[in-house]
Amino acid sequence: DIYIYLKGIPKLEEELRDALNIKGVIIAPGNCKESDIITKEMGNITFRALKETLQNGDIIGITGGSTMAKVAEQGVFDNIKRDIVVIPARGGLGKDLNTQSNSIAAKLSEGLGGSYRLLYIPDNLEKEALDYMLKNEEINESINLIENINTLLFGIGRADTMAKRRNLNQEKIDSLLDKGSVAEAFGHFFNIDGEEIWEYKTIGLSLKRFKKIENLIGVAGGEEKAEAIMAISSLNTNMILVTDESAAKRILKIR
Ligand code: BG6
Repeated sequence: DIYIYLKGIPKLEEELRDALNIKGVIIAPGNCKESDIITKEMGNITFRALKETLQNGDIIGITGGSTMAKVAEQGVFDNIKRDIVVIPARGGLGKDLNTQSNSIAAKLSEGLGGSYRLLYIPDNLEKEALDYMLKNEEINESINLIENINTLLFGIGRADTMAKRRNLNQEKIDSLLDKGSVAEAFGHFFNIDGEEIWEYKTIGLSLKRFKKIENLIGVAGGEEKAEAIMAISSLNTNMILVTDESAAKRILKIR
């Protein structure tokens, strides 16, 4: 069992797992917003938890963001070659983020001794241009892989923070928040009950598919992400959450 040798806080983990009704919770002690060591620890835990679930033939999707960057960074190759492929879960989520999720995917596959595929879809494409790009064989192959992701590692963000980071205009940001958005994950915005408010138009992992993925590890810490974590945890009971003590305690308090 992966929880036995991964460092954590067993009683708090159990309580949070029951409260969120998901498959598992692993908590790094402390607050990741106060010390980078905690974020590293969350990255480390995630990489090890991932390795435990891996099987030959797995297609691993990963999103961008600073937390996922840490996960990939913490992966140390153990000299075991694995028959797995890593792919960014979404394309076109903003110039920097997109580049980041490609490089994060490459880095993660290096740590796992597997292979990777990249996804280069520019931001803000007109529909016609997107349809045209889909005719490209390489892009099509990547999209096929994304549709068959069976293991997903993803970051969870606050709706307000991510709307700004994704350069949405003020009117759009206000409307998302007026409608109750608290969370953003893989380009989708959700209210506290996990109802989708809006999806950033791009290609990649859909919400429908997300809800069916068997192995998924969501990683997010810091008490300000408590509501975002609650919203996303309601989407798929297969989820394993890697978080920190401060977020865990905050969630249990506001529930
Ligand atoms: C993004 C993911 O890249 O990272 C988002 O696609 C997520 O879905 C975000 O909300 C979280 O970012 P960070 O930097 O807080 O880990």
